[in-house]
Amino acid sequence: MRLSDESQQFFMATRVGPPSESAGGAADAAGGSGPYRQGEDGEASMRTKAILFGSDFDAPLPFREVFAREFPELDFRIWPDAGRVEDIEYALIWKIDDGVLRTLPNLRAILALGAGVDQILKDPAFPAHVVLYRLLDAGLAAQMSEYAIHAVLDVHRRMAEYRAQQRRREWRRLDAVHPSERTVGVMGLGVLGADLARKLSVLGFRTIGWSRTPKSLDGVGCFYGEGGMAEFLGRSEITVVLLPLTPETQGIINSKTLRQLPRGAAIVNIARGGHVVEADLLAALDSGHLSRAVLDVFHDEPLADDHPFWTHPRVVVTPHIAAQPIAELAMQQILETLRRLEAGETPMGRVDPAIGY
Ligand SMILES: NC(=O)c1ccc[n+]([C@@H]2O[C@H](COP(=O)([O-])OP(=O)(O)OC[C@H]3O[C@@H](n4cnc5c(N)ncnc54)[C@H](OP(=O)(O)O)[C@@H]3O)[C@@H](O)[C@H]2O)c1
Repeated sequence: MRLSDESQQFFMATRVGPPSESAGGAADAAGGSGPYRQGEDGEASMRTKAILFGSDFDAPLPFREVFAREFPELDFRIWPDAGRVEDIEYALIWKIDDGVLRTLPNLRAILALGAGVDQILKDPAFPAHVVLYRLLDAGLAAQMSEYAIHAVLDVHRRMAEYRAQQRRREWRRLDAVHPSERTVGVMGLGVLGADLARKLSVLGFRTIGWSRTPKSLDGVGCFYGEGGMAEFLGRSEITVVLLPLTPETQGIINSKTLRQLPRGAAIVNIARGGHVVEADLLAALDSGHLSRAVLDVFHDEPLADDHPFWTHPRVVVTPHIAAQPIAELAMQQILETLRRLEAGETPMGRVDPAIGY
């Protein structure tokens, strides 16, 4: 689904400069136009309720407009113009400088502007007592599955070889494999991975998946935990990584795990660059053990000009575009999370900082 121009402006697709430069909105927002709040002793206190927005990716002003309409009692502040830190009860962030969240004494909840939260939890001073909610799907699943299926079919149907043949004007039919004879493995069977696994299974692939805890999905052979990993990898001819980046999954695609894949296997990483030990991946590609890597995410983004991935004949590079939240769906979810928090109800999408997702 293509975002409308308005939606693109409205949400993720709009890159902004440093937040302090963002359209001058911060200064008046920080001025504090919110209502007074009833103190515990029944007297009106001077404390304003506020939400702090922090992202180097998302444009803040569309959020401020929606919040002014939907939550007029919340003063919308844009980092780094946080105003009185005591006022801030909510943080709406993609990521924010390490240590900032810890300085907000009355912070009640953090709402992430993405499905992954590693960029928030990496803060060594992350206030683990504050609840953290992430986006669930918000239009991502369809796009992630689309990207992954495109990559899987490209590998499965040997399209890179046909493209090379075309360049040589060579008319030659290559052996084909029926999907029922091709095993595709999905690492991570959460909101995104489960969607992909179901769709691969419908396409007729022998589909297997790997998760931290046991799972059951129609048409998908499910493995879990360290105990199930070797068998999962040993069968997986095309592996799609859809794991969250956590201390346990950091560097999970390394020389040891790559060796466990069948010879000639392919890998598709659309989760986080930190899952892959890049030197190990290159070595596996160079040795021919791995036939192809389709990579949307990298250790350091943008990928450096001289990075070997750019020109490696077995690597496909895309610039972290596998999926972007759909503006309207993400906003609906964020507003619903806030509504529930304000009403004392339980929102969806709570993250457990102890396990990292
Ligand atoms: N590149 C992009 O454009 C983009 C866009 C969106 C999201 N993402 C990435 O995609 C990730 C997945 O998103 P999601 O919404 O599907 O997450 P999710 O619903 O939390 O699912 C995570 C899955 O990974 C499994 N898992 C976690 N730790 C594991 C471990 N140590 N060993 C084995 N399995 C483990 C979980 O197992 P259990 O089921 O047992 O809990 C779960 O199945 C996000 O965290 C984000 O990093 C990337």
